[in-house]
Amino acid sequence: MAIPEDVINEIKYRNEIEPVISQYVNLKRRGKNLVGLCPFHSEKTPSFTVYPESGSFYCFGCGVGGDIFTFTGLIENLDYIESVKLLAERSGITLPQDGYDDSLQKQKNTVYDINRETAKFFHGYLMSENGRWALDYLLSRGLTVHTIKHFGLGAAPDSWDSLMNHLKSKGYSAADMLTANVIGKSQRGSYYDRFRRRVMFPIINIRGNVIGFSGRAMPGEDKKSGKYVNTADTPVYKKSENLFGINFAKNHCVQRIILVEGNMDVISLHQAGFCNAVAPLGTAFTSEQANLIARYTNEIVLMLDADAAGQKAVKRASELLKNTGLNVRVVIIPDGKDPDEYIKKNGAERFSALLEGAVSDIEYKLLTAADGIDLDADDGKLKYLAKAAEVIASSEDIMTRDIYIGRLSDKYGVSRTALTSKVEDLRKKNYRQAKKREITDIVRPKYAGDGINSERRRSPKGAAAEETLIAVLLNHPDFCEYAIDKLPAEKMITSLNRRIYEIITDTVKSGRTLDLSVFSEKLLPAELGVVVSLQNSNKADKNAKTVLKDCIEVILEEDIRLNASGNKDISVDEWASNLQNIIAKKAKGN
Ligand code: CTP
Ligand code: MN
Repeated sequence: MAIPEDVINEIKYRNEIEPVISQYVNLKRRGKNLVGLCPFHSEKTPSFTVYPESGSFYCFGCGVGGDIFTFTGLIENLDYIESVKLLAERSGITLPQDGYDDSLQKQKNTVYDINRETAKFFHGYLMSENGRWALDYLLSRGLTVHTIKHFGLGAAPDSWDSLMNHLKSKGYSAADMLTANVIGKSQRGSYYDRFRRRVMFPIINIRGNVIGFSGRAMPGEDKKSGKYVNTADTPVYKKSENLFGINFAKNHCVQRIILVEGNMDVISLHQAGFCNAVAPLGTAFTSEQANLIARYTNEIVLMLDADAAGQKAVKRASELLKNTGLNVRVVIIPDGKDPDEYIKKNGAERFSALLEGAVSDIEYKLLTAADGIDLDADDGKLKYLAKAAEVIASSEDIMTRDIYIGRLSDKYGVSRTALTSKVEDLRKKNYRQAKKREITDIVRPKYAGDGINSERRRSPKGAAAEETLIAVLLNHPDFCEYAIDKLPAEKMITSLNRRIYEIITDTVKSGRTLDLSVFSEKLLPAELGVVVSLQNSNKADKNAKTVLKDCIEVILEEDIRLNASGNKDISVDEWASNLQNIIAKKAKGN
């Protein structure tokens, strides 16, 4: 059952789009609209636009768009009904309880419940006599009982069915346990516990729900299943979108967040008083994780391993993080240790000093550019300076460039002028290349529907007319009656635009107000983006009625042309006779 229109309107009335989005995105005013860096993809220049007048948003970079409900759904990972509920809750509106289709939310709640029960079970086992082996291990790694309890650590017994039996006794079905991914199903159809004889780390999201687990094997016990077994993606867990420790870090990250490699690093930093450490969950760092961090802090310090893999990870992560507007710094841990080892050996104070000495990502690149080069030899020095000049040229800030040019010229005894002109040459070259790319981008105009509406190619002219028609109707719903009369929906050429047209005409016919919420229920975010971009395009500004008439004419013409040329579904016979005609004409020399 759908939520009544007046309830939706009330929620919209109490939640203006600007404050809703400002909770997540730093918005700047531009004319009557607002712009910011898109939270749904990585970008350096803001293409995320908020239109307070129509209560909508649209990203010119990635094409997503919609209203407060779409935005909340995307950013909080909720479906439509859930985001309506969340916004209702935030603005103190009580929704009538029953009837709404929230089966997905029910499923999610069951998974949360199973996860919490599982975490309790593992923790209880760890603290029991039988779990002594795991507790001893954690204590031997320097964790205190307080820390163990704080993180809710646990242990999985060496058994194929203990957890399953426990959950069964609590009334959960095997199907739900499978959905939560705490049990597996063999090819022969029997169920088994996924985590066996492992130290268990519950993964907790920003709202404090247990969303998954990471289970570490005991050292020296080689397991076929690997050092770590992790929860696979479930309705409540996507490893690429979460970070271990974010539930604590989000409350302690006024200054910065520290990104480390593993769970154990997070826990031992936390124990030493650095509660702002997080780690990706066994994946390469993703842009979703970068966005999550950017929601809570302005500065990120990368503290990854010093080996080659770690350096590559630093480069990748620092690009993603810089794109979100975060200030990125890098710490190189001496002796190639991980943070966990370093802090245990050297204490919190030395670690703090290390943190204060974190270098900017330019400094980091300048340091690593020297890898494998013999700086004592003259040609080595030259090779290094050439690489270093490229690093400096990549900075957009003239003061930053000046500072590093100064440092390098002092250190390597080359003149400032020589180094400056080298850097400026590189910048000119980079600028020319960027311009070239820009020009090719302009040649191929960017329109949101392009990538999404795959049928556009059948008739770019017809599709363009459809888009203008939609833009006109969105801004002048009173013209709908005229359109319905002249243009039946089945004449629309592309099915995306046909669906949009149908939603518009159905809404107007039923007397509902034509605003974005009627679309956000029925379209995907990227499709909704098309609607928003059309609504805010200036296509419908002048002579709307005439424009509308012209559009309808073009669409009808194109419909006839396409039907005649056999581009729609036609019989083999029709197709053959069309072909015959064409061949005959060609033969006549037309
Ligand atoms: N990881 C994983 N699967 C593996 C190895 C590692 O998912 N087979 C992930 C885990 O999230 C782990 C992180 O990568 O926390 C870092 O790996 P590693 O440094 O090997 O583990 P630590 O957590 O540092 O554990 P320890 O210090 O006990 O070796
Ligand atoms: Mn480690």
